[in-house]
Amino acid sequence: MKIAVVGATGMVGRKMIAVLEERKVAYEHLILAASERSAGKLMSVGNLPYPVVTMDQALLAQPDIALFSAGAETSRNWARKFARQGCYVIDNSSAWRLFKDIPLVVPEVNSHVISREQRLIANPNCSTIQMVLALAPLHHHFRIKRVVVSTYQSVTGSGMKGKNQLDAEISNLPVEKFYPHPIDLNVIPQGGSFQDDGYTTEEQKLVDETRKILGDESIQITATVVRVPVYGGHSESVNIEFYQPFEIGEIIRLLTEMPGIVIQDDPKQSIYPMPLYAENKDAVFVGRIRKDFSVPNGLNLWIVSDNLRKGAATNAVQIAEFLISHHFVG
Ligand SMILES: NC(=O)c1ccc[n+]([C@@H]2O[C@H](COP(=O)([O-])OP(=O)(O)OC[C@H]3O[C@@H](n4cnc5c(N)ncnc54)[C@H](OP(=O)(O)O)[C@@H]3O)[C@@H](O)[C@H]2O)c1
Repeated sequence: MKIAVVGATGMVGRKMIAVLEERKVAYEHLILAASERSAGKLMSVGNLPYPVVTMDQALLAQPDIALFSAGAETSRNWARKFARQGCYVIDNSSAWRLFKDIPLVVPEVNSHVISREQRLIANPNCSTIQMVLALAPLHHHFRIKRVVVSTYQSVTGSGMKGKNQLDAEISNLPVEKFYPHPIDLNVIPQGGSFQDDGYTTEEQKLVDETRKILGDESIQITATVVRVPVYGGHSESVNIEFYQPFEIGEIIRLLTEMPGIVIQDDPKQSIYPMPLYAENKDAVFVGRIRKDFSVPNGLNLWIVSDNLRKGAATNAVQIAEFLISHHFVG
C-alpha cells in the first residue's frame, strides 16, 4: 500500500508522518509531497531519508491513500485528481468540508458516514474536532439546544507562519508578521478573516461543521475565536443548553465512556486541562464540568486538545486506519 502525505513539510504534515510511524500504520511506500519550493529536500522518516516530491510526481506515484494538509487552494486544485485515480483523499483543509456528499468525519462520532464509493473525505477544523468529541455523547442523551463557545487557540493552529511570529517576538528577532498584531503578551480576537456579518471564518466553521458532524441543523451555536500566545493546543470554554435535564454525574459518566476523552476535573486541587500539558497527546481533555445555574439545563465545560494531533494529524490517520481495517484499501 502506498500512502502520500501532501504538505509533508508543514506543521500538520510533519505530525502526520510522526503519527503514522507511532501507530505503525503498515505501508510499502511513503510519498512525501509539498510545494515546488521543497521538491528534492530530504526528510528523515524512521531514520531513512525520503525526498520531497512535487504534486505531479505524487499523483504519478498513484497512492492508495493521500493525507492532504497543504491548504484549501492545493486541495481544490489536486484532491479530485487523486480521487479520480481511485485514491482515498483525507483532506485537512476547509475546501470540501461543507459539500453535502463529502463525509466530514471524527471517527469516534460518525465513522458510519464513510463509504467505499466516496474517495474524498474531509477532516474537520481543529477547534471543531475537540468540541464535537465532547458534545456528541451529551447531544445523544440530552439533546443540545444551544452552544456558546469561546476559544483560546494556539499559534500552531496557524501553521509555521503563526509559530514563527511568536518564536521571533519572544526572542526579539525580526519576523514577517502573520497576525495583524503582536501575539506575544497579547490575545487577538480574530481567527481567519471577517465576514460581512461580523463573525470570522474560523467562527463560522465551528457552527457549520458541528451541525454537520452531529447531523442536527437545529443546534444553535455562537462562537468567538481568539488567538493566544500558546503552543501546546487549543482551549475552549463551552456553554451548553440541553432540552433534557441532567445530573453532573451522568455527564461525567458519558464523557468518561467516550473514546478519546480524558477527564481532568478536580478544581480544588487545581486539576483541569491546560495546553501546556496537552501538547503531543492524542486525547481531548475535559474539565471545569459544572452546571450553569443561569438557564434551565445549562452546562459549562473547559475543553483542551493538541490541535496538531487530534485536531488534525491523529484524526486523519484514524480515518486512514478505518479505510484499511474495513478493507477499502490494501
Ligand atoms: N495547524 C493546525 O492546527 C491545523 C489543524 C487542522 C487543519 N489544518 C489545515 O492543514 C493545512 C496545513 O496547515 P499547516 O498548519 O501544516 O500549515 P503550514 O505549516 O504552513 O504547512 C503548509 C504545507 O503546505 C505545503 N504547500 C503550500 N503550498 C503548496 C502547494 N502549492 N502545493 C503543494 N504543497 C503546498 C507547504 O509546503 P512548502 O513547505 O513547500 O511550502 C507545507 O508543507 C491547512 O489547510 C490548515 O488549514 C491545520
